Amino acid sequence: MSDLYDIIITPDPVLKAEAQPVNKVDEAVRKQMDKMLATMYDAPGIGLAANQVGLLNRVLVMDLSNREEEESPEPIFMVNPQIIHESEEMSIMQEGCLSIPRQYADVERPATVRVKYLDYNGKDAELEASGLLSHCVQHEIDHLNGVLFIDYLSSLKRNMILRKVEKLKKQRIL
Ligand code: NI
Repeated sequence: MSDLYDIIITPDPVLKAEAQPVNKVDEAVRKQMDKMLATMYDAPGIGLAANQVGLLNRVLVMDLSNREEEESPEPIFMVNPQIIHESEEMSIMQEGCLSIPRQYADVERPATVRVKYLDYNGKDAELEASGLLSHCVQHEIDHLNGVLFIDYLSSLKRNMILRKVEKLKKQRIL
């Protein structure tokens, strides 16, 4: 069993901080990505950004394969991801977040985005994402900019969710 990171739960300043670009995808960064992926699978979740494990470099991992259906894993590793195109068409989907456990809300985002990034081996790569993958990659890139999905909600809704998380923390459910 590989060791895992602790996932940071809101509120925490690291979730509000901007992650810094990675200079080089070296062994240390690959180790971080492996450990983040293991942490995400364990949670379980479909995406995880460095801020959520207390690290402030621009690294994220995702895997949208359905593990309950025993689909084979399809991990996506992104370093320094950048949205280079977004559709005018918008999409509304329910989102959740490992740093805001058990809370869900509809979020509106561009339906399709094109993302440029460095892959696991440090090579230039691009991904065109729509549907759930589009929401997921935008959500994770937001994390690297210190933005949470609840930041798109009204302050009323956001505060309701934050109070619920606080309550779960107090009850030691999280
Ligand atoms: Ni999240």
